Amino acid sequence: MGAFVVEGQHRLQGTVRINGAKNSALKLMVAALLGQGVFNLENVPRITDVHTMAGVLECLGARVKFKDHAMEIEVASLHGHTPEHLVKSMRASVQVMGPLLARLGWVEVALPGGCAIGTRPLDIHLAGLQQMGASISVNEEVLVARAPSGLHGADITFRYPSVGATENIMMAAALARGETVIRNAAQEPEIVDIQDFLNAMGAQIEGAGTSVIRVKGVKDLGCTDYVVMPDRIEAGTYLLAFLVTGGQGTLTHVQPQHFSSLLNVVRSMGGEIEASSDKVLVSSPKRFRPLRVVTGPYPGFPTDLQPQIVVAATQAHGRSELRETVFDRRFGYLSELSKLGAVVKQRHQDVVVYGPTKLRGAHLEAGDLRAGAALVLAALAAEGESRVLGSHHVDRGYEAFEDKLRALGAHISKVE
Ligand code: UD1
Repeated sequence: MGAFVVEGQHRLQGTVRINGAKNSALKLMVAALLGQGVFNLENVPRITDVHTMAGVLECLGARVKFKDHAMEIEVASLHGHTPEHLVKSMRASVQVMGPLLARLGWVEVALPGGCAIGTRPLDIHLAGLQQMGASISVNEEVLVARAPSGLHGADITFRYPSVGATENIMMAAALARGETVIRNAAQEPEIVDIQDFLNAMGAQIEGAGTSVIRVKGVKDLGCTDYVVMPDRIEAGTYLLAFLVTGGQGTLTHVQPQHFSSLLNVVRSMGGEIEASSDKVLVSSPKRFRPLRVVTGPYPGFPTDLQPQIVVAATQAHGRSELRETVFDRRFGYLSELSKLGAVVKQRHQDVVVYGPTKLRGAHLEAGDLRAGAALVLAALAAEGESRVLGSHHVDRGYEAFEDKLRALGAHISKVE
């Protein structure tokens, strides 16, 4: 297993260019399956999840070329068997369900894998597709969905604003007969990106970014060129890397309004933030105030920044409180943080952090993507050398993490 080797307590400084969003790029790649022709995506992050998704698309019959940050996807005829070994490694591939069902009238997907951060059922996705006329069965960990005479529009109310289910139903509805309304839809910026992408292909969708999305089904969809939106979670991770090392720096190619919940928390801790249309400057305070954070669906505080903000809390003067409301079991990394000396207490979905602590280097193991990034931030703040085992988790979602950090003055390398 690969590891990051970090010598901590070097202040990060400088400018970091933020890549395209993992959680948008993966979905746009899937949405292309609804169309026909050659797509050119720009600002695609070079991360392993994107390579895995390219493999899924190719197994389904699409052709994918990926050079630098440009991806060409050619979609002609497709078939509906998704490759089990690939789907199991990445949850986002469950998103092929909606588009393939809409396009082919049937789909088989192996039950998905992805980050080990709690129970992640699919009931909202499946109930929505059933309301649109799909029949669904599960056979030995393989989901089979059929709609031989096509999907039809429906008025669907989600019991929770699931990001994945919103995207899945939007995509299925784009080619269904009649109008679909999704109520209590997720409002994440990535949903707006998919809406814009699908509409550029010829779909008729409105309302993304609000809780009600309306989709008028069309007969077929074409292709388009598109620039993937910036990754707000990558941006937030670097912003917190500056902060926990007492540094200062600039994030470029970002949309600060997408992570204003984080900017507000950092300001409340005493950090100085200057945000313009596509840049954020951050400077660390000498003394951090403690924080109170509750994660939640957008525009709430993103669960994907929860481990990183807890690391920041270890450097705050006083008692910080965090509640995780999106995923259960997203606290596996806390025992690793304690190895560095952090004083953290967890009870169910609540965590209390007592700071500031002088963290000291240790050997750590990452269990998932965001936890891995957070442990690297903690190692950057800690005195002495740390090893963070499990760099492959981080590579799933951060392009050239160690190179970008090194360019900001971090002493970090990756060993295989
Ligand atoms: C997506 C993101 C993930 C991010 C999350 C929340 C991708 C690949 N992943 O995940 O990085 O952390 O949004 O912003 O884009 N749920 C159900 N039933 C369902 C679907 C979801 O109970 O059918 C629950 C989940 O268990 C979880 C919550 O809803 O507790 C949120 O899940 P959801 O918004 O669907 O997240 P993902 O799309 O999996």
